[in-house]
Amino acid sequence: MQKLNTNYLNRITEMLQDDNIINLAVGQPDFKPPASVLKAMKENIEKYTGYTPFQGLEELRNSIRNKLRSENKIKGEKVVVTAGAAEAIFDSMLAHLDRGSKVILFFPYYGRYAEVPHLLGVKIHTVSLKNGRPDLFEMERKITKRTRMVVVNSPSNPAGIVYSKGEIKQLVEIIDKHNLILLSDEVYEKYVYDGKKHISPGRYSDRVITINSFSKTYGFPGLRLGYVAGDSELVDPILKIHRSNTTCSPYASQMAAIEALKLDHDFFDLSSFDRKRRSVMQTLDDFGINYVYPEGAFYFYIYVDKDPVKLSNELLSKKLLVMPGSLFGDTKKAIRISYAVNVKTLERGLEILIKHIFKSLI
Ligand SMILES: Cc1ncc(COP(=O)(O)O)c(C=O)c1O
Repeated sequence: MQKLNTNYLNRITEMLQDDNIINLAVGQPDFKPPASVLKAMKENIEKYTGYTPFQGLEELRNSIRNKLRSENKIKGEKVVVTAGAAEAIFDSMLAHLDRGSKVILFFPYYGRYAEVPHLLGVKIHTVSLKNGRPDLFEMERKITKRTRMVVVNSPSNPAGIVYSKGEIKQLVEIIDKHNLILLSDEVYEKYVYDGKKHISPGRYSDRVITINSFSKTYGFPGLRLGYVAGDSELVDPILKIHRSNTTCSPYASQMAAIEALKLDHDFFDLSSFDRKRRSVMQTLDDFGINYVYPEGAFYFYIYVDKDPVKLSNELLSKKLLVMPGSLFGDTKKAIRISYAVNVKTLERGLEILIKHIFKSLI
């Protein structure tokens, strides 16, 4: 089994609460949950700290189903509430992949999509970007008898790619034609810029498992709440794994999620993220630093000229934390920064990064 170097990731989570570090590594929004959501959390932690049904509270599952129908145009016949999208990904892969089977990932990808297959002894096939877009022709060519699943993440972490309607439709057609499962991770669905639209593949096929979470949209990643939705045939085996994995998600988090889903659409302030995105772009452009144009999410995938782990360690000695690109697939040429931080932190971090890049060229 190929070994993944996750030491750096462990170090990053250890530094989460270190105020001396400028943390552009971690992907958590810099806003608090809306007041009604926080209130529900506080009140309900006082009220009940016991178990809930394995699959989640009925009221929450109904709210999720309604949200999926009205916003995403997905039936969401069966919903299971999980401990964040992380558990949803793990359970879905464990339920549908076995040793010797294959999964297809689009490069660069969120590290967990590779980490779980590695634990399971499942092979990964990677599809590269072509002219900055996911290459769906290459993807179809990579399908073999053993391929079971394709993972799509739009908007994507780390590159911020938002799949167009045409790309999603083409992807789903390939999935249906080859009888595969499409795992669609939509945790950044609200972070879509330039007037683009988020399209859920689940609206076009029953072979899609839709994953989402309350971490990025509602600002409570540490309260661990996400879900998986799809046809019973695909979701029932996931419920089995969830039962023996976490039993159920915390009651107070589920009650907070019910409140979150009652909020008006305009509670979510994309404009502050867009301002930071444009300002980082301006700075990187001014210095001639290359990156993948971020259409969504809250990251920049920046091309660098030296080993990203070495560069990340050098930056850390200057108190700046970034993610080496090697955590997002096999590359020696990129780092990821997050702009889900306050403007001051972002400016300070960029200054250190740019000074360091230019100093090491001299
Ligand atoms: C693409 C993607 N999927 C899933 C997750 C995990 O989210 P959660 O906090 O809901 O477990 C993350 C977190 O960074 C992510 O970037």
